[in-house]
Amino acid sequence: MHRVAVFASGRGSNFLALQQAVDSGALAGHQVVLLVCDRPEALVVQHAENAGVPVFAFQPKDFRDKAEFEHELLQQLEQVQAEWVVLAGYMRLVGPTLLEVWEGRMINLHPSLLPAFPGKDAIGQAWRAKVSETGVTVHFVDSGMDTGAVIAQERVPILADDTESTLAERIHSVEHRLLPEVLRTLTSSNPQRLA
Ligand code: GRF
Repeated sequence: MHRVAVFASGRGSNFLALQQAVDSGALAGHQVVLLVCDRPEALVVQHAENAGVPVFAFQPKDFRDKAEFEHELLQQLEQVQAEWVVLAGYMRLVGPTLLEVWEGRMINLHPSLLPAFPGKDAIGQAWRAKVSETGVTVHFVDSGMDTGAVIAQERVPILADDTESTLAERIHSVEHRLLPEVLRTLTSSNPQRLA
C-alpha cells in the first residue's frame, strides 16, 4: 500500500479528488494517511474528517518559526509512515527542515504551465495576461516558489467565450484527473530512480 500525505490550506477539491480516486479503485493500492493543514478553519479539514483521514491542523503562529513547525510535521509524517507528500493548495514555501528529508518524494500541483505564472493566483495572472492557453503542472518540490523539476503538464486553452471562472473550472477539472494519474505513475516506477 502506498501511503500518501496531503498538505493543503483551503477548499480541498484536489484532496477530495485524490480520496475519490482511492475509493473508486482508480488509485488502487494507495491510502491517504494524513491531511496536514496550516489553517484549522479550512474546508479541506472537514473533507478529511468526513473521509476518516487523520488530520494534523496547526496555526503557524503557535510555533517559534518555520523550522519548529516543520520539525513537528516531520514527526507527524513519520508517525503515519507516509511515503509521499502531495502539496495540493498548500500556500507556503517548504523550508529546508522538510526538504532535507522529503525532497524527491514531495510533489506540488500548480494551475499554470510553469515556468509561466508561478506563485499566487496563477489562473488570474494568466487571465489578465490575455494568453491563449494556460494549464496545469505537477512538479517536484524544491526550495523555490513553483520551481522544481516538472513531472507532468497539461495544456488548457483559453476560449473566446471564457470568463475567469469558466477557465478556473476547466483548470480544476484537469487538476482533479492529472494529480491521481501522476501519483500512480510515480508510485509504480522505481523509487530509487527518483531519489
Ligand atoms: C489548486 O488550483 C492548486 O493547483 C493550487 O491551489 C489550488 C487548490 O485547490 N496550488 P483545492 O484546495 O484543491 O480546491
